[in-house]
Amino acid sequence: MHSRRALLYMPGDDWKKITKSITLGVDCICIDMEDGVAISRKAEARATIAKALQELDFGRSEKLARINSVGSGWEKDDIQSVLPYHPDGIVIPKVESPDQIRWGSEIIEAAELKYGWPINSVRMLVGVETAKGVLNLKEIASHPRLDAIIFGGEDYAASIGATRTAEATELLYAREAVVTACAAYDLQAIDIVTIDFKNLDFVRAEAEFGARLGYSGKQVIHPAQVEPVQTAFTPSDEAIVHARRVVDAFEASQKEGKGAFALDGKMIDMPLLRNAQKVLKRAKAAGK
Ligand code: COA
Ligand code: MG
Repeated sequence: MHSRRALLYMPGDDWKKITKSITLGVDCICIDMEDGVAISRKAEARATIAKALQELDFGRSEKLARINSVGSGWEKDDIQSVLPYHPDGIVIPKVESPDQIRWGSEIIEAAELKYGWPINSVRMLVGVETAKGVLNLKEIASHPRLDAIIFGGEDYAASIGATRTAEATELLYAREAVVTACAAYDLQAIDIVTIDFKNLDFVRAEAEFGARLGYSGKQVIHPAQVEPVQTAFTPSDEAIVHARRVVDAFEASQKEGKGAFALDGKMIDMPLLRNAQKVLKRAKAAGK
């Protein structure tokens, strides 16, 4: 699975931002047709994204296109106008039921067959950002084409009538429900946008909190957010060293016939081993 510590959006009708995005060393570029694009500019966004997919070299960044939600009336033209140019994946926002994923998956599979691409070579990521989406997480998360669920904090707050705060306690239930569903189905979990994009200390702290909740990445909306977010979702050198020690000590203690043992004055057993293995897996995915 492609690493997606930071998933950077830009409006699909903004050629300048698209060309800028490929210079940033960001894991994942998500060119938008949905809420970042004015209603009068949807057709322009489709054409601009098609041109970008044909003409630009994205290097090691993944190239995704976000369509409008299923039922918006725009979704069909959105997906059909970008699929022929083989994006790495399609993002469907505001998903509330597995039917909407099946709709997208069938269209993608038809394109894979038509163009002779390997089946499942165009991945799918979905936004869960409404009350219904959160209630239906289990059915949504189990679709085989899915790589990740993206939790949209602003949309979710609007959906339930919550007031957004800096602490984001109003989002915690849904934010943790998304991580849980992703863990259950081995998906990446991609956390909320920090809209206060001038405050880099804030985005760093929010990204670190998301990582502690179990998220694997975060949505970003501005180039300055890329570095702090990618760093927050990369295990630190100390965390990696500690995880290796746990794994090594665990193996040694198993050989001695002990399930639980002490390391640096703390009890280590199976769940701590699993956590250490996750840290090492994330470090590897981040190229460390
Ligand atoms: N992707 C790529 N480049 C971006 C960018 C983005 N998301 N946001 C800003 N930039 C570029 C600008 O074009 C500018 O480039 P330049 O220095 O070459 O001229 C540079 O980064 C600095 O931008 P800045 O002036 O600080 O921001 P802005 O006022 O132009 O834009 C936003 C602020 C919020 C409008 C803009 O960041 C944006 O459009 N973000 C994405 C919004 C979006 O897609 N929303 C939907 C998903 S939630
Ligand atoms: Mg949204």
